[in-house]
Amino acid sequence: MNLRARIVGTGMCVPDRVVTNDDLAKLMDTSDEWIMQRSGIRERRYIDPGTQPADLARKATERALEAAKLETSDIDCIVLATLSSQADFPGTSFFLHEALGTSEIPCFDLRAQCSGFVYSLAVANGFIRSGMYRRVLVVGCEVHSTGIDLSDEGRDVAVLFGDGAGAAILEANDDENDPAGLIEVRLHAQGEFARKLWIEAPASGHTPVRIDHAMIDERRHFPKMEGRFVFKHAVTRMPQVLMETLHAASLKLEDIDLFLFHQANLRINEYVAKELEIPEEKQINNIEKYGNCSAASIPMLLDEAIRAGRLAPGQLFSMTTFGSGFSWSSAVARL
Ligand code: COA
Repeated sequence: MNLRARIVGTGMCVPDRVVTNDDLAKLMDTSDEWIMQRSGIRERRYIDPGTQPADLARKATERALEAAKLETSDIDCIVLATLSSQADFPGTSFFLHEALGTSEIPCFDLRAQCSGFVYSLAVANGFIRSGMYRRVLVVGCEVHSTGIDLSDEGRDVAVLFGDGAGAAILEANDDENDPAGLIEVRLHAQGEFARKLWIEAPASGHTPVRIDHAMIDERRHFPKMEGRFVFKHAVTRMPQVLMETLHAASLKLEDIDLFLFHQANLRINEYVAKELEIPEEKQINNIEKYGNCSAASIPMLLDEAIRAGRLAPGQLFSMTTFGSGFSWSSAVARL
């Protein structure tokens, strides 16, 4: 029996509050022109006080369940990818578990930053193919707005990120006549560059306490990034891992109906698409509206692609990521 994991429903949720580039220019020395030119981002969403990451994840999940015509009780396991956990511990998945009111099914967070959703798909794929679980909820969920430095000092990073969540329900497909499902997934990491894009504190390795006043004064609790270094690696690794995955699946670039790339920077995706000669009609981006939502970017994009009719049942698509870690990955699937 050839058991595959297929995506039977997707959903997304972003907060209502729109923050434009002009809004950010009131807080720091930046401009709409600089942000648009460098990143292609026009606006992003920020949560309002009182909203929790799990609230976004719950709404995205409910939409995915509705699309799949399933109930919460149909889910056997939850894998949630995030780099911005609701609490230091436990992971956001446990707060989502509470919000959904599920039975005692397992849940856990997976930390692979912007590659987290594709890494989570690989884990869910393993669970399903091994027969351990029949339906796995995979969520990407980020709240960046409470963790970025909205001053001149943090402007290079702050303007890029937004809040959001995306969810997909994976289900075992054992129908020999139905080719829908994940075909190949490839994951990579390079820890030697962990400090090229990271948040240093709070840190369990910092003694005697994880964060102190001096660290806060030095702004070491905000993300730091070597932007050009990240850019260079992203435009190299993304085509590499995409081609590796297609090769493993015995597919060619021309076979793919829609290419989804992580939404870190539109210029990165334009560069990759140009290098691989991917025609414009086979690409989709939503970074202009949401910025970089890290682990949530790919499932949000997937949900928009499906709902907009850009991706239909039977079509082949790829999802390719690069992010902090460094981590990079690609998956190819048939809807
Ligand atoms: N507004 C205005 N000016 C800004 C700015 C902002 N938000 N952020 C930085 N600048 C300034 C810099 O201070 C620098 O000024 P200087 O020349 O006077 O020193 C100038 O703009 C150029 O900065 P630089 O960092 O060289 O810009 P860049 O062309 O590399 O673009 C990024 C910056 C961040 C857009 C780009 O490096 C990038 O996209 N990197 C990858 C980011 C990424 O994908 N991260 C997430 C991976 S998951």
